[in-house]
Amino acid sequence: MCGIFGMLGQNAVADTLKALKTLEYRGYDSAGIAVKDGNGIKLFKTVGRVENLKDAIPSEVYGTLAIGHTRWATHGEVCQGNAHPFYSADKNFAIVHNGIIENHLSLKYQLSSVGVDFSSQTDSETVAHLLQKNYKNSVLDSVLATANQLEGSFAIVVANTYDDNLYAIKNKSPLVVGINRDGAYFCSDVRCLSRWVDKVAVAPDNVVAVANRQSVAFYDFKGNPVSVKFFAVENAEEISGADGDYMLKEILEIPEKIRQAKQGYFKSGGLSLPAKTVHRVKRIYLIGCGTAYNSGLEAAAIARKMLSIDVIPVIASEFIYDNYPVDSYTLAFFISQSGETADTIRAVEKVREQGGFTYAVTNTQASSLCFVCDKVKNIYADGEYAVASTKAYNCQLVTLLLLLTDVSYLKGAIDDETRKKIVESIDVLPTAIDKVLSNSYQIAKLAEEIKDSSAVFFIGRTADYPTACEGSLKLKEISYIHSEAYPAGELKHGTLALMEKGVTVVAIACDSLQIDKMALSISEVATRGAKVVCVSPYSFENTALLSIPVVNRYLYGILSVVPLQLLAYYVAKRLGRDVDKPRNLAKSVTVE
Ligand code: G6P
Repeated sequence: MCGIFGMLGQNAVADTLKALKTLEYRGYDSAGIAVKDGNGIKLFKTVGRVENLKDAIPSEVYGTLAIGHTRWATHGEVCQGNAHPFYSADKNFAIVHNGIIENHLSLKYQLSSVGVDFSSQTDSETVAHLLQKNYKNSVLDSVLATANQLEGSFAIVVANTYDDNLYAIKNKSPLVVGINRDGAYFCSDVRCLSRWVDKVAVAPDNVVAVANRQSVAFYDFKGNPVSVKFFAVENAEEISGADGDYMLKEILEIPEKIRQAKQGYFKSGGLSLPAKTVHRVKRIYLIGCGTAYNSGLEAAAIARKMLSIDVIPVIASEFIYDNYPVDSYTLAFFISQSGETADTIRAVEKVREQGGFTYAVTNTQASSLCFVCDKVKNIYADGEYAVASTKAYNCQLVTLLLLLTDVSYLKGAIDDETRKKIVESIDVLPTAIDKVLSNSYQIAKLAEEIKDSSAVFFIGRTADYPTACEGSLKLKEISYIHSEAYPAGELKHGTLALMEKGVTVVAIACDSLQIDKMALSISEVATRGAKVVCVSPYSFENTALLSIPVVNRYLYGILSVVPLQLLAYYVAKRLGRDVDKPRNLAKSVTVE
């Protein structure tokens, strides 16, 4: 969801391009850079990937102040005119923006009525023109005046010709600030900065930041100084290029990451909530978006086998605007790979306002989510860069299983022996997943057979249904084949009408109590001409079986999703898709 960057220091052009390459996972519709040299500010922008932008910048372009942007289009089509950065009309300001200026239409109207011409259809360009309009003789005053006129979510970096500072405005979109001995940096992602700085600060909402090459100062929108703490970037992992596809690399890492998720959970103190607090809990929410929501769905299905209180999975964007009950007896887990998803963060704010306890489950430490939640648990998946989430899902599930097992134990819903059994059973998962991975040739073959399906339906019952949802999401997002997930028993109430030759149904059948019912559902769709693929430790007639090992009943969701991740990958590859950067999507969605 748009990556922004700005820096003061040597080699600003080369380093900004490097940063944009790293931030490309946030959007890849277009890329652009503005460079300040002795003659003013120069802009370069291109549609598509950062590689295209590199080719468009003459080698002699040099500067010690640059800002850059990778775009995921929200306002205005994908074209060069809508690519960032944007100039003010007099070219004394250039800006890059991540977020949405919600009042851009009224601002545009005001600016147009005093003769300002707009060159793009974006909301962001408004900011550049406001900066010019508000400028008298101090850039800081103009930035503050502009900040006060904006509504919505924004992380904006501003270059100008009047002074040598770099400015930023921040509200509700991620902005990290880094410093080293010779420069200052503004960026959307802390991991991108780790190669240049060892100290960073996460800018709070409603601040303006002013950087020179020695220091960064922060102000609230009235111009009062705000104190912001810098901290050492520990374990910040640099995002380096992968030779093959990130998605496959990340799937292959799953067994090791599961080991680390379990170890890390205990090393970092487990649930870390007082027994008294857990006792009081009467309602648990599992809130997230996309894949993170699906892991909440699966974790809730597992928790329902242990706990007798309400455990409710909710999509974050729905939670914000619906009336889910929250009080001081509410414990809400917020699941997010990036820790930056705007919908999820808004949902945290709502639970906090209403007195609930907020618990982040994420692999991105120092993300916005970590700052707004009462408690944070790392899932130890490390950085994930393919847009389609894989290893983070498996690690979210391991961590949620451990958290909910501990909650169940502290609430007296399970005894110590059951708890130990669940915890120990996780140890077999890496080997079981390795076994599935070693069957990838079979999955690749199957991908060839189903790649031309007119539609693919994923079905499952109880805790297999969330796996069906995740399998379906993986397939549609990277292959663009129409796909949906259904609880198997629900097919007969409508979707069965779509079954015919050319349709594929993927049945997830791991719940041993549901085998007969799943056999019936499989037979119903096979009879109507659908090709059926089955993921199961058992065998079924009329199916192409992707066999998985037998594991503890609480763990099937973590295991049975792996063949589905691989299936989606191979189908997409065979269709010639860009698996790491599917069309219209972005890894981190920082607008509502
Ligand atoms: C985007 C990504 C999905 C991801 C979702 C939630 O839509 O494309 O892969 O599952 O955001 O992201 P989060 O970082 O909060 O887990």
